[in-house]
Amino acid sequence: MNPFLVYHPTTRPSGRALARAMKIPYGLISHYSLCKADKIIRWGTIENPVLEQQVWRKIFNEEYNIRLASHKYRSLKKLRADGVPVPDFGLCDYRESQSGPLPINADGTLRETIFQRRFHHTRGTDIVITKQHEGYTWTLGNFWTKYIKPHKEYRVHVIGGQVIICQKKFWSEENMRQALAGERREEEPGDELAGFGEMVDLQYKRGRKDFIRNWSNGWFFHTMNNWSNMPANAIPTAIRAVESLGLDFGAVDIISTEEKDEQGKRKVYVLEVNTAPGIEGDSLLVYADKLWEMINAYA
Ligand SMILES: Nc1ncnc2c1ncn2[C@@H]1O[C@H](COP(=O)(O)OP(=O)(O)O)[C@@H](O)[C@H]1O
Ligand SMILES: [Mg+2]
Repeated sequence: MNPFLVYHPTTRPSGRALARAMKIPYGLISHYSLCKADKIIRWGTIENPVLEQQVWRKIFNEEYNIRLASHKYRSLKKLRADGVPVPDFGLCDYRESQSGPLPINADGTLRETIFQRRFHHTRGTDIVITKQHEGYTWTLGNFWTKYIKPHKEYRVHVIGGQVIICQKKFWSEENMRQALAGERREEEPGDELAGFGEMVDLQYKRGRKDFIRNWSNGWFFHTMNNWSNMPANAIPTAIRAVESLGLDFGAVDIISTEEKDEQGKRKVYVLEVNTAPGIEGDSLLVYADKLWEMINAYA
């Protein structure tokens, strides 16, 4: 067996750390060992789609499904069609707003707080927040999602239909300052932990920190030891989300709310599924193990 991990060196650095932990070769197709590779892990990259045409290879996370997951609007549509709970959303499109989905009153104010978003994005840099009762103005957004007031936010990592790691998001002032100063920039950052390019003032970030819970606003992931503290729906929902997008593995961003469903369980919503999540430390070893298990199951 010749496994290989394909990743994009500039944008998916945790791929390299993972390949090293798995002790398998990595890189792009020009690399010699990729030619004979029969098991391929795509770390969030659609480079070399020709690989999919050589059917003797098994590819974990095929190019088509990575494209689907990275197109945030298309993936929300697919998830919703499969019954996975997602926030309300619609196109930022004049025609669609006429037919109703945009939660807008006759006087042009919004019935709900919404985020206007781009089809492709990472780290929440694309998000334009328009609050309830404010007048709606067009921005460069391609689509909108209804803002869900979070109770907690989680990232649930799924490999081969099983949850392997659960993380919860935490905020601290110190994290936010470090992010602003770029101090916590890792040598091998993952997407969520990557350096923060632009310098934005603290006041501005504070205004957005409760809405956009990402690293650059002072939020970071903490691995949970006790999964029983998670909302009961989070784990099955994450598994269904990864399956819905046709992925072999993925890290599902989940938001929980104060609302309860008919069974009295806390409601959860899927925000997105990441195909190259930032991972570091012990999580790298867990990933390496579970990816090996998945590969071996196909041997
Ligand atoms: N509909 C929503 N309701 C509430 N918070 C949201 C919503 N969509 C995004 N967010 C917040 O913005 C963050 C980034 O959004 P996400 O969809 O995960 O995209 P990305 O991480 O690729 O930028 C989320 O972690 C969450 O804190
Ligand atoms: Mg996210």
